[in-house]
Amino acid sequence: MSLILVTDDGPIRTVRMNRPEKKNALTRPLYEAIGAALTEKREGLRCIVILGNESGFTAGNDIADFLAAGEQGNALERPTVRFLHVLARCETPLVAAVNGVAVGVGTTMLLHCDHVVAASDARLSTPFVALGLLPEAASTLIGPRLMGYARAFELFVMGRPFSAEEAKAAGLVNRVVAPQELEAAALAAARAIAALPPESVKIARRLMRGPLDETIKRIDEEVAIFGERLTSPEAKAAFKAFLERKK
Ligand code: COA
Repeated sequence: MSLILVTDDGPIRTVRMNRPEKKNALTRPLYEAIGAALTEKREGLRCIVILGNESGFTAGNDIADFLAAGEQGNALERPTVRFLHVLARCETPLVAAVNGVAVGVGTTMLLHCDHVVAASDARLSTPFVALGLLPEAASTLIGPRLMGYARAFELFVMGRPFSAEEAKAAGLVNRVVAPQELEAAALAAARAIAALPPESVKIARRLMRGPLDETIKRIDEEVAIFGERLTSPEAKAAFKAFLERKK
């Protein structure tokens, strides 16, 4: 079974995570596959929509992969870092359609999307610190800027889950719709973006997103510390507790 399902339809590409049996938890190959779908050029491509499936948006980084990386003494593995760079550098506008669980990078990746539609059942959470880790994807930079320090601290450090409406109030989500309307609403937003003059979109986007170097530098800074945290006894214990919770 393909880890992602990619569909090209005129100016719009949809990229659907497809690991429903693990709530689309992101493994190294899954990061690679999404990264490739975000970077692969096509004449006339104007907007990319990232979707989950009936199991939710994504349960975040695969915990078994975190454990393996920690035990091998790796920093956050390269495919993950590459994915974060691809997200930050992506030149095609990104729309996300978020339903159900959006854990960890499932929430922080939204900071790099240009438009986010959430189903009313979406639940955004980042339990990084509870796992002995730290927020990534430049969320320590973009999060406080977007929603103010207090809310960013609550979401990214305290790990309190935000409902779709709370995420909208925080500026992370544009629209909240009924779950059955999610895909149509996300595609409608993508079509609206795709219909705009692409060069103007590109320039406005580049200016509005702020200095790319600063974002990449923060991603790398977070990654370096994240790598150390992965090997910490508290992080390893948290991963093992999750993986063994049903035994
Ligand atoms: N990594 C690896 N496997 C994961 C996973 C993850 N991040 N999230 C879910 N899964 C797996 C579960 O182990 C389970 O597999 P199994 O059926 O073989 O046991 C399957 O996906 C379904 O998850 P389950 O926990 O049974 O669903 P739930 O609805 O009870 O809970 C979550 C959903 C997302 C709340 C819960 O799975 C969870 O907390 N996952 C970890 C999220 C996380 O900490 N991610 C890292 C962020 S930094």
